[in-house]
Amino acid sequence: MSNDDRPKKLWEGRFTETTDDFVESFTASVQFDQRMATQDIKGSIAHATMLESTGILTRTELEAIRIGLEDISVEISNGNFSWSVALEDVHMNIEKALTDRIGDVGKKLHTGRSRNDQVATDLRLYLRDEIDIIIAEIRRLQRGILDLAELQAATIMPGFTHMQVAQPVTFGHHLMAWFEMIERDCQRLSDCRSRVNIMPLGAAALAGTSYPIDRQMTADLLGFDRPGYNSLDSVSDRDFVIEFAAVASLIMNHLSRWSEELVFWTSPLVDFIELPDRFCTGSSIMPQKKNPDVPELVRGKSGRVTGHLMSLLMLMKGQPLAYNKDNQEDKEPLFDTIDTIKDCLRVYADMIPAFSVKAEKMRNAALKGYATATDLADYLVRKGLPFRDAHEVVGQLVHHAIGKQQDLAELSLEEMCRFSDLIENDIFDFLTLEGSVTARNHIGGTAPEQVLQAITRARQTIKQAESAN
Ligand code: ARG
Repeated sequence: MSNDDRPKKLWEGRFTETTDDFVESFTASVQFDQRMATQDIKGSIAHATMLESTGILTRTELEAIRIGLEDISVEISNGNFSWSVALEDVHMNIEKALTDRIGDVGKKLHTGRSRNDQVATDLRLYLRDEIDIIIAEIRRLQRGILDLAELQAATIMPGFTHMQVAQPVTFGHHLMAWFEMIERDCQRLSDCRSRVNIMPLGAAALAGTSYPIDRQMTADLLGFDRPGYNSLDSVSDRDFVIEFAAVASLIMNHLSRWSEELVFWTSPLVDFIELPDRFCTGSSIMPQKKNPDVPELVRGKSGRVTGHLMSLLMLMKGQPLAYNKDNQEDKEPLFDTIDTIKDCLRVYADMIPAFSVKAEKMRNAALKGYATATDLADYLVRKGLPFRDAHEVVGQLVHHAIGKQQDLAELSLEEMCRFSDLIENDIFDFLTLEGSVTARNHIGGTAPEQVLQAITRARQTIKQAESAN
């Protein structure tokens, strides 16, 4: 399109030359902010409805605007709307289309409003919708974790510290640790949502407007909890975007840690879990390979989401009140954060119920690393030995067993008695893996009974959170 064929800019009144071609595309945001079109139209209809109720627009004008916007909305969702970079952003594209369609009445829509409060409103509406979708996806993921944890409540695996076999735990218990992590994320998301759900509209450019607007009405129409209390803050605040990006970074951090475990568990050297072929890919050179690409990619994508959090913090740190064009740069990191966590949560929610759990391999691994040594020390303490002394005795016993390449439970009673005469025949009940996990029978412990209780509690938590919405 040559310079002269370009649509008239909505602000060109005070300008004497047309925008430089490159500057036009450099300053435009329509390429990416068109994804807020639905929210932009919803916000405009609410704004116009309020303008009519306070006598700023007539009933006929409102009807023309509403029908025009609804038609445009259909056109956009059918993919028939033609977006123009010359019209800069989603707001001016839609406003121009409205005026083309309904004539001069369309020009009245922007009364008492600025793109500054409009964009902040759109962004909040958009993010609110996405948070609700993300929470629903987390719930699906949590249900998968709970179902698997229930099946695996008594499956024994080694628990690790320093990546060394530490003590036996149940796989159900391990999965419930994942549940706790993502449950905190879910709580953080709903808390963040409460600060997203505040309406900037009415702040206009920065100082409010001289029209007799009813901000409470617009807020009610749009489902906001309330209007923002300060117009300067309303147009400039992007804390809610940063907060969301921080919550998203933590979600990705958790998924990345789970991924690290899955990569470990699926290694042929460990082999605790097998992922179905549909979640893996092969190697172009090594025919035997089945790679855990999905967890690896999720782990990799966590870096990109945390990067977005950093870029948003840097974006805002030097900005004086009120709106600055810098703010346009908030959208791409936010949108990519949303897309990335939705994809990662989705793939995890699909993948977890498809785990094939190799219980025998897990159990054998727990047998290998003297995982019940602490149970032996606790046994001696119960027989009257101070814990530090018990620790020392068991350390010597483990050293002895390593020399014989045997597990503690494989040593004879006589052999063990050489290290402490407090050891009696009942010791074998405590050296078994089952004895060890069953003994940890308190809130938060790994005993199968506790895992089942944790699952019941978790299901109640989800139910309560869902009925509160
Ligand atoms: N596209 C702009 C943004 O995303 C909309 C607001 C523009 N306001 C302005 N005063 N130039 O921030």
